[in-house]
Amino acid sequence: MPDSKDTEDKAQDKAPSENVSEGTPSSSSSVKPTGAKMTPKAAESLLDMNAALKNEMAGMDKGKATEAVRKMDIAELLTGLSIPGKNQKDMASYKFWQTQPVPRFDDKESAGGPIKIIDPEKVSKEPDPLVEGFEWTTLDLTKESELHELYDLLTNHYVEDDNAMFRFNYSQDFLHWALMSPGWKKEWHVGVRASKSRKLVASICGVPTEIRVRDQKIRVTEINFLCIHKKLRSKRLTPVLIKEITRRCYLNGIYQAIYTAGVILPTPVSSCRYYHRPLDWLKLYEVGFSPLPQGSTKARQITKNHLPSHTSTPGLRPMEAKDVDAVQDLLERYLKRFDMNPAFTREEIDHWLLHKPETQKDQVVWSYVVENPETHKITDYVSFYNLESTVIQHPKHDCVRAAYLYYYATETAFTNDKKALKERLLMLMNDALILAKKAKFDVFNALTLHDNPLFLEQLKFGAGDGQLHFYLYNYRTAPIPGGINDKNLPDDRKMGGVGVVML
Ligand SMILES: CC(C)(COP(=O)(O)OP(=O)(O)OC[C@H]1O[C@@H](n2cnc3c(N)ncnc32)[C@H](O)[C@@H]1OP(=O)(O)O)[C@@H](O)C(=O)NCCC(=O)NCCS
Repeated sequence: MPDSKDTEDKAQDKAPSENVSEGTPSSSSSVKPTGAKMTPKAAESLLDMNAALKNEMAGMDKGKATEAVRKMDIAELLTGLSIPGKNQKDMASYKFWQTQPVPRFDDKESAGGPIKIIDPEKVSKEPDPLVEGFEWTTLDLTKESELHELYDLLTNHYVEDDNAMFRFNYSQDFLHWALMSPGWKKEWHVGVRASKSRKLVASICGVPTEIRVRDQKIRVTEINFLCIHKKLRSKRLTPVLIKEITRRCYLNGIYQAIYTAGVILPTPVSSCRYYHRPLDWLKLYEVGFSPLPQGSTKARQITKNHLPSHTSTPGLRPMEAKDVDAVQDLLERYLKRFDMNPAFTREEIDHWLLHKPETQKDQVVWSYVVENPETHKITDYVSFYNLESTVIQHPKHDCVRAAYLYYYATETAFTNDKKALKERLLMLMNDALILAKKAKFDVFNALTLHDNPLFLEQLKFGAGDGQLHFYLYNYRTAPIPGGINDKNLPDDRKMGGVGVVML
């Protein structure tokens, strides 16, 4: 049973640090385990191909882990997701989460909707007190100095990979973009300071938006940047932070929230898997992100990941302010095909998707449209955002520049021809890779959400060892597919679920 120290160590697979496993995961299915007779080698391969299990056994001596695998039920092993997810405990062990309006793991209630009706009159007007020596603060992120304080906390203490090799490094421009979206509220930028030193030691933030969950439009807070200084971990500060931002949301009349985590909490509404496409394979290899597959050579890996120098979609160009309406129209129709999707306003499209060079030092979002050269109609849209990771203590490299696939859409989705959609996305996404490479990114990351299972493997994205779980607070709905099957592999029969991208 993982304790909260374990939580600290493992609450990390939002980091883009999952080793890119080379070769399609299905190639590992040539391993044919035979129960107790499984050879140590087969057990080892099985362990390699089952990312969830590998995480579970992280830290265990390799020999012991292999031995444990040999004793396990094969059917279960082949089903990546049948292994309890990282950090999963039984409901009773979630001392905090079992008190919250979230579905239990064994939730049988079928009706969707809010779990608890909140009476705003009964919401406390004051925060719960913090332990002596610490106090609440509301960050004013319009002030460069306070934005920098948050940046500093996250740069040193936010999400790391399991081996503490990489840590997310959200730029200040990124935080500004992510936390001051249309309708943003200062009160939802919550911090904790050490009273004496005034140092910022914890954060939890939210921005308001609307999402559709199976055609129900709900006003939610998007929660992000929950972070506690390393020295203050395992002291049950997380529940206090979550309760405080919940209170502040309730006071503003927002009773639902959406959030993601690499760890299992009660209860994911959906789970996706990370995939990684090397753009600069050699650098990824040098920093320990990509392994050199057995029997391959560096030169072969570089060739394998080589991309053309020019894009091939006719009419592809950077998105401009004049495209906002067309992009909103296309994206809304495209996103409505998913069970859970954002209901973006025009203002939000403008904010989230359009790069504003005049206000940003570090570009955050790269957006492109495809304009039909004859009709001038916008037929496709694709974007990615920039999220660097610090390479912790490396003699040669100090950061990995990762592009994350963001929103996209194509008219081809409405032809109801899956093959045509796949063809179109293969071209569009290959162009996105080329553009990201030109913009000096080292790796292109994507989850199994949207229609991504149609192109991930063919475009040489490697399976990561991280899952990203999606959660709704105070809202119940039936599970939503995350683009992966019970072997934890991308599956186009599991698409149509997650349409939101969380930063
Ligand atoms: C995640 C983090 C805030 C947890 O802090 P901690 O000191 O390990 O945990 P605490 O003692 O404060 O609280 C433990 C409780 O928080 C819950 N918790 C842990 N990680 C959580 C998460 N990411 N989201 C929500 N709840 C979480 C635990 O399940 C536990 O509740 P339970 O008793 O119901 O099981 C801290 O490890 C951290 O800052 N990590 C780096 C950044 C990070 O991973 N942020 C989360 C991104 S999703």
